[in-house]
Amino acid sequence: MVGACVVRPLGEGAHELMSIAVQPAHQKTGCGTALLQWVIAFFHKSGASRIEVGTGTFGYQLAFYQRHGFRVTGIDRDFFVNHYPEPIFEDGIQLFDMLRLKLEYPGSAA
Ligand SMILES: CC(C)(COP(=O)(O)OP(=O)(O)OC[C@H]1O[C@@H](n2cnc3c(N)ncnc32)[C@H](O)[C@@H]1OP(=O)(O)O)[C@@H](O)C(=O)NCCC(=O)NCCS
Repeated sequence: MVGACVVRPLGEGAHELMSIAVQPAHQKTGCGTALLQWVIAFFHKSGASRIEVGTGTFGYQLAFYQRHGFRVTGIDRDFFVNHYPEPIFEDGIQLFDMLRLKLEYPGSAA
C-alpha cells in the first residue's frame, strides 16, 4: 500500500475527505492525484452532491485540491492550534488556520 484516504458522510449527499496521504517515498509520483481523482469519481457515481475538505492556508496541498475543482468556502481560525497538541510547521511557517474547501458536482443544488 502506498497511500490511503478517509472519507466520512456528512448527510444529504455531502462527504468530507478527512485525510489523504501517500507514503513519503512515493510522493510526487502521481499517486495522490490518482487517489483523489478516484475518490471524486467514486462519490460522483454514487450520486453525492459534494465533497468537502479542510487544509492549511498555504502550501502545495491547497493547489492540489484547487486543481481538482475545490473552491474555498470559509476559514476555521486557529484550527491547527486548537486541535493539535504540538505546533505544526510547513516550510518553516506555523500553520494556524484551516481553509474549508468544497467540490460541488455539476447538476447538484447543494
Ligand atoms: C498531498 C499528498 C497526498 C499528494 O500525494 P502525491 O502522491 O505527492 O501527489 P502527486 O504526485 O499526484 O502530486 C500532486 C502535486 O503535489 C505536489 N507535491 C507533492 N508533494 C509535494 C511536496 N512535498 N512539496 C511540494 N509539492 C509537492 C506535486 O509536485 C504535484 O504538483 P505538480 O502537479 O504541480 O507537479 C502527499 O503529498 C502527502 O501525503 N502529503 C502529506 C500528507 C498531507 O499533507 N495530506 C493532505 C492533508 S490536507
